[in-house]
Amino acid sequence: MNFTTQINNWYYVNKRNLPWRMNKDPYSVWLSEIILQQTKIQQGLPYYSLFIERYPNVTSLSEANEQDILKLWEGLGYYSRARNLHKTAKIIVSDYNGIFPTTYSELLNLPGIGKYTASAVSSICFEEKKAVLDGNVFRLLSRYFNIDTPINSSLGIKSFEKLSFELLPKVNIGDHNQALMDFGSTICKPKLANCDVCVLQDGCSAHSNNKIYLLPVKTKKTKVKILHFNFLIFISSDNQTIIEKRDEKGIWQKLFQFPLVQSDEELNNSNFFNNPQIAKKLQLSDYKVKLINNKPQLHLLSHRKLFIKFWEIKSSNLIKDSIAIKNLDNYPFPIVLSRFIKSYF
Ligand code: ADE
Repeated sequence: MNFTTQINNWYYVNKRNLPWRMNKDPYSVWLSEIILQQTKIQQGLPYYSLFIERYPNVTSLSEANEQDILKLWEGLGYYSRARNLHKTAKIIVSDYNGIFPTTYSELLNLPGIGKYTASAVSSICFEEKKAVLDGNVFRLLSRYFNIDTPINSSLGIKSFEKLSFELLPKVNIGDHNQALMDFGSTICKPKLANCDVCVLQDGCSAHSNNKIYLLPVKTKKTKVKILHFNFLIFISSDNQTIIEKRDEKGIWQKLFQFPLVQSDEELNNSNFFNNPQIAKKLQLSDYKVKLINNKPQLHLLSHRKLFIKFWEIKSSNLIKDSIAIKNLDNYPFPIVLSRFIKSYF
């Protein structure tokens, strides 16, 4: 039996029972695929259920308020996925009469839909002959065929695209694509591969060459930048605080945050007041400052390492443009801040 037949036979016995597999509704499949980019199934499932419950179809999502979508997305990270979800829903309603486009090339034109999502939706829902390449598939193919071209190089991407296309069966393209993804995430796992129960073991080139954990190869990532974040938690005597909306660019776009001062070095009780940006933000006549966490909280993003400190600034003044602390829950925040809010207030 060849690779394709073996893996598809495995899938029909072992396929995971996932809610978006109940029918081939493109809205559900698209939503699940966007949630599952950069997110594991176990973490993504509750978000998927929340979204389907609140926005059961593309029209309801298009009519939603962007802030509510971001609030529901809170904790998943990579928030541009949520903003693009909303943009695409609006385009489908306005330009496609609310009916999902069915072809790879039409899907590819929509915000947030790249080759991966366009292949997944068009193959799973409409049987278009497109191969899906995600991290699971790269790992499985690089191991089975013992390919050490870096999977994040243009040469690597081209050769894996060619190989995965050649491996497509004549029928049931969507099932085949999902078979590769399920196999990659449950058997051919990154660190603890289940080679003992692997039905592909006999033909697996990495296994016979003892190279399972050397594959796939990735070229070095861009350097991670270190940033010091100081959030100012204003608290007025009438229990108001200040939040601001982040602008379009950079991380956490359009989410809310407490007033932020970024500094090149870590701020502490002795250099805090010398920082000119801090001085600018502290234009109150009467206030008391307290450092909430002496040891900075570490938060890792794909290209950033954040060292976060929270500073409490209590004031007996009324603060301009403030909101009630009890209403903080209504706003979408980056997960570090929503956790802070839960534990602090
Ligand atoms: N990961 C992302 N999308 C998936 C799918 N459709 N099936 C299995 N795993 C996935």
